[in-house]
Amino acid sequence: MEEEQIYFLISFFTIADRYPPQTMNSINKDSIIRTRRSNMTIGIDKISFQVPNYYLDMTDLANARETDPNKFHIGLGQDQMAINPETQDIVTLGASAAAKILTDEDKKDIDMVIVGTESSTDFSKSAAVIIHNLLDIQPFARSFEIKHACYGGTAALQQAHDYVSLHPDRKVLVIAADIAKYGLNSGGEPTQGCGAVAMLITKEPHILAFNNDSVFYSEDVYDFWRPAGHDYPLVDGHLSNQIYIDSFTRIWEQNKKINQTSSEDYAALTFHLPYTKMGRKALRAIFPEMPEEEQQRLEARYDEAILYSRQVGNLYTGSLYLGLLSLLDNSQLVAGDRVGLFSYGSGAVSEFFSMTLMEDYKKYLTSENNHTLLAQRKRLTIAEYEKMFNEKLPTDGGSHSFSDPTDFAINKIDGDIRYYNK
Ligand code: HMG
Repeated sequence: MEEEQIYFLISFFTIADRYPPQTMNSINKDSIIRTRRSNMTIGIDKISFQVPNYYLDMTDLANARETDPNKFHIGLGQDQMAINPETQDIVTLGASAAAKILTDEDKKDIDMVIVGTESSTDFSKSAAVIIHNLLDIQPFARSFEIKHACYGGTAALQQAHDYVSLHPDRKVLVIAADIAKYGLNSGGEPTQGCGAVAMLITKEPHILAFNNDSVFYSEDVYDFWRPAGHDYPLVDGHLSNQIYIDSFTRIWEQNKKINQTSSEDYAALTFHLPYTKMGRKALRAIFPEMPEEEQQRLEARYDEAILYSRQVGNLYTGSLYLGLLSLLDNSQLVAGDRVGLFSYGSGAVSEFFSMTLMEDYKKYLTSENNHTLLAQRKRLTIAEYEKMFNEKLPTDGGSHSFSDPTDFAINKIDGDIRYYNK
């Protein structure tokens, strides 16, 4: 059989499996062949992250809340939690993450800045347009925010992929930034955190290439949501755990069917990490289908992927990508290895897709800086944490100045406009 015919058959059955027959009739089969035949690789050319310079130790929190510290360290799999002062918001975190990887050349080539977040401070203006300005990205660019709970970063990434496939010489900056707060003494308190991951999406990427094998799943459910006017989300914690696992097992089955893969095809599986035990529970849910050595191999990679999140906590949209970064920095995966990514956003939307590691990818990581960033943070006392947690930027419309010297921190608020260090 001709190579072209094989491509067509694979593509046809893949798509036929996903769509009902009446939809299939309207799909242009030629375009399927063209997409599959294209040799162009698109993916993550650069990646970095940013967390604030403060953290809370989970033993300190457990002692203050009269809880056994093992519940947090072992039961949830969290050792530290990133805490932000009010002068460091998603713009600060996102701009700082991106500034570490962008060259002047990149800033001329970027056509889109997309921020995936559920921590917006404005219902209208996006954090993306502010970051676009702070980073001096060329003006003829699109800038916007994208939302569905923790899934927003993945939506942004896929949008970036689609844009670069149509405009191969241009680049897209994707930022996944959030501040996860549930409230002092709340059930979700030990699963807070914050931070941002920035990714530059280009053709012929240096780190990871998309395999164009996404499988998605939506289910209208209230496991975690934040109606307008609420400072903190409403959450049914145990239901959210269950929906997360159910979404993963369903999407995994669908992935095996559509992409004709099994666990052996993945060098590692990475997960959205609201707390690090969560992804482990989902991973273990598929263990019965594989031999023990396969389980051990995937769990060893999982342990490498959660090293950063154990020290940061939940950064909502960025959590999956902090896990990916931790895996890249701390594992010995090699070029050609396929990494599976499970993205979950409460409410609930999830997606499973895979990316392939590029030649010499380690050379393009900022691993040493990432370790230093986490190591040099200041440990807060409980009193300092609670004070920082309760501090809010003034909303009286007046002019107020702040003296946080951190890059891109808020230095003034005036007329309800935030001004940032540049
Ligand atoms: P909880 O009731 O405080 O904790 O809620 P628990 O009683 O369920 O215990 C947690 C684990 O600790 C259990 O392990 C216990 O056995 C263990 P498991 O049975 O689950 O394996 N444990 C201990 N282990 C060792 N030594 C001990 C000990 N004591 C207990 N002494 C919960 C925990 C996560 C529900 C809560 O913190 C919460 O509501 N968090 C927020 C919601 C959340 O993170 N959900 C995750 C899935 S939803 C999601 O990922 C989306 C999200 O990121 C938002 C978005 O999409 O935008 C949240």
